[in-house]
This record gives sequence, C-alpha cells and structure tokens, in this order.
Amino acid sequence: KRIAVLASGRGSNFQAILDALAAGKINGEIVALLTDNRDAYAIERADAAGIPAIVLNYKDYPSKEAYERDLLTAMQDICADLFVCAGYMRIIGSKIAREFSGKMINIHPALLPAFSGLHGQRQALEYGVKIAGCTVHFVDEGLDSGPIILQKSVEVLDDDDEDSLSERILEQEHRAFPEAVALFCADRLTVVGRHVKILPEAN
Ligand code: GRF
Repeated sequence: KRIAVLASGRGSNFQAILDALAAGKINGEIVALLTDNRDAYAIERADAAGIPAIVLNYKDYPSKEAYERDLLTAMQDICADLFVCAGYMRIIGSKIAREFSGKMINIHPALLPAFSGLHGQRQALEYGVKIAGCTVHFVDEGLDSGPIILQKSVEVLDDDDEDSLSERILEQEHRAFPEAVALFCADRLTVVGRHVKILPEAN
C-alpha cells in the first residue's frame, strides 16, 4: 500500500512506522511526508529515509481555507491508499475528512472517548484516572471521534507528572501505531458503523 504521513513536529510516531517498515512488519511504502510546519523535525527524518517532504507552512497562509485547499490538492496528487496523522496538530477539515473517509487514521494520546483534543495526557492526570493510554482511530469529521482501531493502556502512577505519563504513553503509541498501519495494509480492518473489526490473518 502507498502510505502518506502527516506530521507537525518531532515525528517519533512517524519514525516508529519507518522502523516497522524497515523491519518488514508492514506491507507498504511511505511515499511522502506532508507537514504544516517548516521547522518540524519530522522533515529531517523523512530526508534521512529518502522520503519526499511536502511542506505547506501553515503560517504562510492567509486563512485555514487557503491552507486546506492546498492540502487537499497535495493529498489528491499523492494518490495514497492510507494517510497517517502522526502528531499532526491540526483538526482535519470536513471536506478532507469526507474525501479520505476510511483512508485516514490518527493517533491520540488518551483512551478515547475520554480526553479528546489537546493535551490528552494532562487532562487524564488532572481528572485523576488510574489507567491512561493511547488510541488509533479512523478520522471522521469530528474531533478525535472516528471509529477506534486499537487502544493500549498504561497505569497512572501516584508520582506521575505530565512528562513521565506522556513518556510511558508514547512507548505504547510507538507499538500501537505501526500495528494499526500493518493491519490496514494487510486489508484486515473492516469498518461497520462505529465498529472496526480486525480480521484474522490470512494463511
Ligand atoms: C503524540 O503524543 C501524539 O499522540 C500526539 O502528539 C504527539 C506527537 O509526537 N498527537 P511525535 O511527533 O509523533 O513524536
């Protein structure tokens, strides 16, 4: 499968997918990185892996509409089978969400539907939950609201702060995301309404 990655910053989840591809765990190839931030470290990771980086620097656009128009065109041009939002820090507009429905997945650092939006880890800590984690889901028109593919949990410890909890959740993100991409690329995900079924491995 042809995979395109959208990332805004550090890109450690992008790296986890690159590593899983290199290890032969995903049946696909990353054909492009798309970023809204010209300073994203993810661009260096793409360069190192020989993947073209398409930079649509959000701050250079007069409006969100103008940015999304270019993003939509770029996404259409790439002809990817799967778009992976790996720390892509903007809400996907409804036009793009509709056009790529069932072909776009996101990772969120909380156990959805709890703590959607920004700072999922901080929200979990402030709420006082004992179990936190991450969620990989399909993107729909809402905020972190699409059908859930998989989740991984971590325990919240008494002395956790935002950094320590985020770090433990990130370790699980780096396992969950490549796993979800691998399942998609193996055609093992079917979406029925809100429910994502994982089909058994074909022999
Ligand atoms: C991750 O925690 C992701 O879940 C969140 O932003 C962070 C991005 O990290 N949406 P990275 O850029 O993949 O290192």
